[in-house]
Amino acid sequence: MTKNIVDVNNVVRTFGDVKALDGVSLRFEPGIIYGLLGPNGAGKTTLIRVLATLLKPTSGSATVAGIDVAADPVAVRTKIGLAGQFAAVDAYLTGRENVEMVGRLYNLSKHEAKRRTEEVLERIDLIDAADRQVKTYSGGMRRRLDLAASMVGRPEVLFLDEPTTGIDPRSRLDIWSLIEDLVAGGTTILLTTQYLDEADQLAARIGVIDRGIMIAEGTADELKDMVGGSVVQLTVRADDRGAVADILRSVAGDDPKVDDSNGRMSIPATSARTLLAVAGKLEEAAITPDDIGLRKPTLDDVFLSITGHVAENTEPEKKRAARSGR
Ligand SMILES: Nc1ncnc2c1ncn2[C@@H]1O[C@H](COP(=O)(O)OP(=O)(O)O)[C@@H](O)[C@H]1O
Ligand SMILES: [Mg+2]
Repeated sequence: MTKNIVDVNNVVRTFGDVKALDGVSLRFEPGIIYGLLGPNGAGKTTLIRVLATLLKPTSGSATVAGIDVAADPVAVRTKIGLAGQFAAVDAYLTGRENVEMVGRLYNLSKHEAKRRTEEVLERIDLIDAADRQVKTYSGGMRRRLDLAASMVGRPEVLFLDEPTTGIDPRSRLDIWSLIEDLVAGGTTILLTTQYLDEADQLAARIGVIDRGIMIAEGTADELKDMVGGSVVQLTVRADDRGAVADILRSVAGDDPKVDDSNGRMSIPATSARTLLAVAGKLEEAAITPDDIGLRKPTLDDVFLSITGHVAENTEPEKKRAARSGR
């Protein structure tokens, strides 16, 4: 018995000559949200599909809830829920019918499927729209319905593949709070994302994947430490630069970083307070910056710092072309 609910050992998955996963290992304990962070084409969906038993690994092995995904996919499926990157709901059924159908696929009795459907639709705030055909739903509503369907069978482990990509900010916050509720209720979640802020907000631990390889692992703070955390960044008129450098030095306790190409100055920020402190002192000195802001590290910063290159979008054609050129 393993105490890891997900345990991936050196998994390789190839498609022709594309190595979508190139020896991925990761493991984590039950009860947390694990965030798999990476750009388009990194291999996130492929890993989710391997864990959800929709794809066999070319080599290597993986267990979910202690069960080997290749040896006993049927048993694995009873433990998991999956919400895909593209909402997999039937547009001609109503929201309620979609969720009930998935409940039945999980072998819930008719009665239990109906009961759970009401519960999850309530929770996900789709009760009012439950009897409308899904084709009338917005993108955010479809995504929420897909999440509802993934939860209906009370899975031990939930795989969420880019749950908020391409949806409006309002629905994004709703989905975040739903995910937090789920994990508070004891579900373990593996979610993929292209956004560091999303992984930061939700995940206890984060793995960074690039071109099928795990390039970093840690807590959000550990990853941000690699890139130096948030900064206060500002641009001022050339003749204010000396005075502003003094102000920044007094706040940060160290010399500000200056970008020679544009004169932009920055200091590390522990929180928004650093920004307020700088703004207060500029105000006192009657200096108005051209631009000032708190800049948080992004996935691009993480990539740049770990790999020395920016996070490239490795969509199919581009990736195939790049690989066949080797
Ligand atoms: N069914 C498939 N056939 C061929 N290539 C695939 C297939 N699925 C994924 N790939 C390739 O594998 C790589 C990883 O894809 P994917 O796992 O979808 O990445 P991500 O989800 O991180 O965007 C990409 O280069 C993609 O083109
Ligand atoms: Mg994907």
